[in-house]
Amino acid sequence: MANYRFPDGFKWGSATSAHQVEGGNHNDWTEWEKSPARIAQLKKEGKDPSGFISGKACDSYNRYEEDFDIAKKLNQNIHRFSIEWSRIEPEEGRFDFEAIKHYQCLVKALRDRGIEPMVTLWHFTNPVWFADKGGWLNSKAPGYFTRYAKYVVDNLKSEVGLWITFNEAFTVYAGHTKLNATWPSRGKGIFNFLKMRKNIAKAHILAYQSIKDSYKNVPSGQALHNGMSHNVMIGITENNVYVPDTKVFWTTWARRKYKNFRNFYFFKDNAPYYDFIGLNYYHMSRKPAFSKKNEIVSKQEFMKEVNWEIYPEGMYHVLKDLSKFKKPIYITENGIADESDQLREKFIKDHLYWVWRAIQDGVDVRGYLYWSLLDNFEWAEGFRPRFGLVEVDYATLERKIRPSAYEYGKICLTNQL
Ligand code: NOJ
Repeated sequence: MANYRFPDGFKWGSATSAHQVEGGNHNDWTEWEKSPARIAQLKKEGKDPSGFISGKACDSYNRYEEDFDIAKKLNQNIHRFSIEWSRIEPEEGRFDFEAIKHYQCLVKALRDRGIEPMVTLWHFTNPVWFADKGGWLNSKAPGYFTRYAKYVVDNLKSEVGLWITFNEAFTVYAGHTKLNATWPSRGKGIFNFLKMRKNIAKAHILAYQSIKDSYKNVPSGQALHNGMSHNVMIGITENNVYVPDTKVFWTTWARRKYKNFRNFYFFKDNAPYYDFIGLNYYHMSRKPAFSKKNEIVSKQEFMKEVNWEIYPEGMYHVLKDLSKFKKPIYITENGIADESDQLREKFIKDHLYWVWRAIQDGVDVRGYLYWSLLDNFEWAEGFRPRFGLVEVDYATLERKIRPSAYEYGKICLTNQL
């Protein structure tokens, strides 16, 4: 490959989320995964339920220093992780200082290694008390979330400059809980889907305003740790798919409608309330599905462990689409489930090439975070899909760096492809 240089200061790293790596959580997901209905469903599908219980996951709650040593060794300078709300506020209104102290240590561990923390406040899991009150359908949900967000930010603000309120809430989460109900779901249906999206958008806006207020109390001049990023930015992460046009006018029209409804729901109406866009891009989606002979893009290779159609050029198109919102973009996730590690290096490089192209064409992309640093608990798919740069042996919890991780590490070091 020729040399494709990224802008100075471009951030390179990887991402995880609390419930997928920490282990030992108690939240609405851990309640649901043990429920008789869920176990019966898995058995019906011929699956062993034990592979779908999150349990100790990667035990990163205890092993985060080891994990961050690996990230540093791989030349990463940003790391995205999430805070587990159910640890911080295990009962309504009771905030656990020990839990926040843990995350303070985690942030310090990153800073000590020269890695900038990017912190997600909500990544799919909820405290049990919150779910029992109706979760995101409760009109008080935005208030509950904001109170939690304020507590976290007030305790971490001098060390953290990059915040993400919600991860894939409007697309993946709302869809899986309220449309197809393949995730913990109380009250399936399109009206609940729409109501949930509205409430989460409200929660984001309230939290955004409250976080901004919290930073007003930080004396100007009080530098964030080690003089690293001082610009506090609060963003929101969404999953965007590439939706190809077809050869036919009407089906192209339908696909563009679907794309707008799916990809831009939050961004288009809330410009004052986010400082950056977090983009998770993985695959192409031929929805609505039409006759194959009308497809413009030929059939591509599939990510077999999760059955997604891989299309690196789609990265360029989703970035170009998002650039119309005129906010900086971080690629907060992009990755491949590939236990063999035969496809990962090429997957990363192909996608990065299209990121580079988008930057050449004026898109303001600030960083790329591979999903994921470690193999982890892949929600309803259990432990089988292996997205990690690092392989985790779930029996011994031993970490083994995959060859592709070193290749990605070279890109992180040299800031070029
Ligand atoms: C997006 C989600 O944020 C993350 O939790 C998940 O593991 C990856 N995509 C892969 O599906």
